[in-house]
Amino acid sequence: MPNTAASIAVEHSREVGASIERAPGEHRMLTGDRPTGDLHIGHYLSSLRTRVAMQERGVDPFVLIADYQVIMDRDSVGRIKENVLSLLADYLAAGLDPNRATIFAHSSVPQLNQLMLPFLSLVTHAELQRNPTVKDELGASGRPLSGLLFTYPVHQAADILFCKADVVPVGGDQLPHIEQTRLIARRFNARYAAGSEVFPEPAPLLNDGQRILGVDGQKMSKSRGNTIRLAATADETAKAIRKARTDSEPTITYEPERRPEVANLLTIASGFTGRSPELLAAEVGDGGGSALKALVIESVNEGLRTHRTRRQSIAADREYLLQILRTGNAKAEAVAGATLAEVREVMSMDY
Ligand code: TRP
Repeated sequence: MPNTAASIAVEHSREVGASIERAPGEHRMLTGDRPTGDLHIGHYLSSLRTRVAMQERGVDPFVLIADYQVIMDRDSVGRIKENVLSLLADYLAAGLDPNRATIFAHSSVPQLNQLMLPFLSLVTHAELQRNPTVKDELGASGRPLSGLLFTYPVHQAADILFCKADVVPVGGDQLPHIEQTRLIARRFNARYAAGSEVFPEPAPLLNDGQRILGVDGQKMSKSRGNTIRLAATADETAKAIRKARTDSEPTITYEPERRPEVANLLTIASGFTGRSPELLAAEVGDGGGSALKALVIESVNEGLRTHRTRRQSIAADREYLLQILRTGNAKAEAVAGATLAEVREVMSMDY
């Protein structure tokens, strides 16, 4: 994203953050995940905890399982239902409360998907073609560009606008989609609603934490197999962390630029203990790589203990999970139905 666009997004994020501090009850948040596999500690530290914190503050949380986004760049749905239920188990174990949060799968909400049609009329081929995130995802997929991948920023706008969310907690890679969503909202209001504010322009809420890398020092991602899954056992966690790359320097210091792998392990331990990476580095000091890893293993396993216990009992009850999802889908459907009715009316398509 060009620098000016990025700094405007940072500004929007700051403003909405301040507004949430003042009046959390006036905000609705929407965010979500693609059900392509199990969630990992990066998700936990950067997004799951933020969502729960927002809910606890009194923001109205909508959490979306973006199942249609799974088939944009692959040949089959894979183990989609398992992945959906696994996401849901992590949401609930992390503390999202189904009585307060609306948790749903976007494929289950036809009225949301119908918004895609008027929204498609509001974007140009050129805009879609220059979306940098779509370009990256296309490159990573190694496949021809599907129509769904090409147009998914518009579908994602429907995800956000159907419930008129004004806050979207995301990582930086999603900013182009938020910008496209803002354009769609603005154009809809101007062209089809005579300037009345049918759709608010949502603001991104950027997570400010340090990005977590995988145990191989690359970006932590399900497809790279370098993650530490929330569903992993304490032993699996220990094994993965013991294998993590470090460097050959004997003393542990926190120097993210010069020693990214060591810094990453310190960041992980810091995320789970709430203590600063500098302090943890000083504590480990001459203990070196093996003492550092012992600390990280302890921090992660301790930090996730409650989550994992809760997750295990929740995940075992498939019927319960399906029931929660159906309830969330029905809530989302009611909201989407009201929005679609309003859209039909302002567009004079209410026959
Ligand atoms: N594209 C997001 C991701 O890959 C998931 C997502 C789908 C999403 N719809 C959304 C995020 C709407 C925020 C708002 O992580």
